[in-house]
Formats: sequence, structure tokens, C-alpha cells
Amino acid sequence: MTKDTLQTPAIILDLDKFENNLRTYQEAAGKHGKQIWPMIKTHKSTEMAKIQKQFGVTGFLCGTLDECEKLCDAGLDHIMYAYPVASEPSISRVIALSKKCDFFIRIDDPDGARLLNDAAAQVGAAVNYTVIVDSGLHRFGVEVPQIAAFADKMKELKHLVFRGISTHPGHVYGCTSANEVPAVAAEERDTMKAAAGALRAAGYKPDMVTSGSTPTFFDAVDDENISIYHPGNYVFLDVIQMSIDRAKEEDCALTVLASVISHPKEDLYIMDAGAKCLGLDQGAHANNSIKGFGYVKGHPELTVYSLSEEVGKLHVEGKTNLKVGDKIEVIPNHSCSTANLTDYFIGCRGAQVERIIPVDIRGNSTTKKAK
Ligand SMILES: Cc1ncc(COP(=O)(O)O)c(C=O)c1O
Repeated sequence: MTKDTLQTPAIILDLDKFENNLRTYQEAAGKHGKQIWPMIKTHKSTEMAKIQKQFGVTGFLCGTLDECEKLCDAGLDHIMYAYPVASEPSISRVIALSKKCDFFIRIDDPDGARLLNDAAAQVGAAVNYTVIVDSGLHRFGVEVPQIAAFADKMKELKHLVFRGISTHPGHVYGCTSANEVPAVAAEERDTMKAAAGALRAAGYKPDMVTSGSTPTFFDAVDDENISIYHPGNYVFLDVIQMSIDRAKEEDCALTVLASVISHPKEDLYIMDAGAKCLGLDQGAHANNSIKGFGYVKGHPELTVYSLSEEVGKLHVEGKTNLKVGDKIEVIPNHSCSTANLTDYFIGCRGAQVERIIPVDIRGNSTTKKAK
């Protein structure tokens, strides 16, 4: 089957580009003796995680406990949950994961930590953790001047095992041009160096120093302190990465295949893909530098200027050869959002459809667990 015969809209994964992205990041990490534990909330797919492992990743970072459990059930190991927990049933799930696999949680709050510790004590479990350090995103995280005192406070929680420190320089997505990115990477590196140094000076051993984002990866991969990197979006890349020169059109592996279904006005075409495929993201952290809702490959004259749920409007500037009935491929602004809007990726090699890859870790487990 070829791509041009597919029912539209279709979420296409270009396998060559995807594999190339995995290879490029893995080679850079390998060159500097670093590990990649990718953030898998980008694709929410067990099969994709297994492919990442084939390409050399040695662990995984997850955005939900569902993702952690699915990877653990699939026999994958070195699983880190990116965020703290502070309530049931999350606490019990973290303890169960700690018993089943080499699992790590992140902590930045002593009250939440105590809740987890007390529950672990009741069943005689030990939970590995890293301390979240704030490197500028100002979401989670202990600040460097407080890190040693935080570690001292955690010492009394005997069922929590200190393994190191973690951060995510997510404020890089506030950058509106490529030349702003290195300063964020420098902040990421400097913060982790200072945090690790402060902990060592206080007698702690932060064996794991983990950090990362796709935009800062190449500026931070040779850091002497960081040992594990957590890029997520690098598997697909997207318009947000293109806007800060972290990807080119030809690197983007995830696209929405759409048909042009109407041409109601001279400068207006309508496609059969809308917000339910492309999402409405235009950037994060108050960054609204991106024009439109995706980039139509090979058609710089088009802007995806408005999306309804199932259809989208394409505005033409200048001349176009577009016709009703044509198929077009749209690179989403934010590929993680597009991945979360489909049950499967259609894996293509060039024009050939090669395999269906299920997106099996979407949604959440609330209903399932409540039954
Ligand atoms: C804690 C954490 N680490 C890593 C990542 C991966 O970042 P990126 O998708 O920029 O590679 C994310 C993404 O949001 C994250 O929340």
C-alpha cells in the first residue's frame, strides 16, 4: 500500500526520519559517554520505546504513571517518573513499581516525600528518588542555595533512597529565536554543576545527574556533570523546533496527511484535517512567535491560519499550484500533541506504508482503576 492511497486525515510517521533522529541523538550522546533516557510522553507508545531501546537508550522518563507501568509490564527497565506524587492511588502505584523494576521518582517537596515514605515503610519498600532542581523553568524544583538543607531534611525518610538530581530546562520553549537557546543550555549546565557541587560539599553522592530537553541537547551533551539526558520531542521534531532552528523541514518525522476538499475563494483552500489532528498549540510559555497551526510541506505560500475541529483553512499568499483533490502533508506545531490525538501512527518508508505503530498509552487509567 502506498501513502497516497490512505484515507485522510492520517497521522504519518516517516520511519527513515524517525530512525535518523534516534541515531543522530544517540551518536552525540555516545561520543560523550552519556546515556539517553528519553521522555516518552512525546509518543506514548510501548513499541516506539522498544525501538528507542534498539537504538541505544538505556532508560526511560515518563510523564504519567500509566506510561511507567506499561513500560515495566513490557519488560523495559530503568524507568523514571518525572513528577512527584502526593496522594493515593499514585503513592501505591509508585511503591508497586519500585518493587517490580528499577524505578525512580522525582521529589521536590518534603511533605509529599513524607507521605510516600510513610506508605513505603508500611510495606517495607524502598523508593529510589532524585531531587528536582529548578534550572529556570520555575515549575518544580529546589533552588541551588537550599539543596543541601533539602537533602538533610530528606535523610530522616528512611524508605526513600537518594540517587541524584534532575532538571528540565523547559523555559527554552520561551525562546523566539535560535540564538537565545545556548544561554538556556548554559543555565541548565551551570545549575546542575552548582547543585551537584553543593551536595558533594555537604557529603552527599549525587550519582545520577539527569537533565534535558530537545532544544538544549546539543549544547549540553558534552557537560561534565550531567550523565543522563531526557530529550522527548527529538523523535518527531516539529514546527516549534523549526522555529528555533533545532530542526529542518526534512527532519520532521510526524506529519498529518490531509486532502484539499474545497477552494471557496481565490486565496482560501480547505483541508480535511483540523484541531483534532493538529492541536491548537502555537508554542509554550507565552511564546506566540509561530504563525498558524502547522507547516504544509513543500508549500511555503500556504498558512494554516485557522482550524475547526475536523477541517482547517489554508490561506494562500502569492501563487500556488494547489488543487482540490490534492493530498498535502502538514508538520504539526507541536508533534507531542498530535501523537496524543491518535490511536496509531502509520509508519511509512518513503511512499510505502510499512507498519502500524499503536499509541497504546494514551488517556488515563482513572476509569480502569476505579472499576
Ligand atoms: C520533565 C521533562 N523532561 C524532559 C522533557 C522532554 O523535553 P523535550 O520534549 O523538549 O525534549 C519534558 C517535556 O516536556 C519534561 O517535562
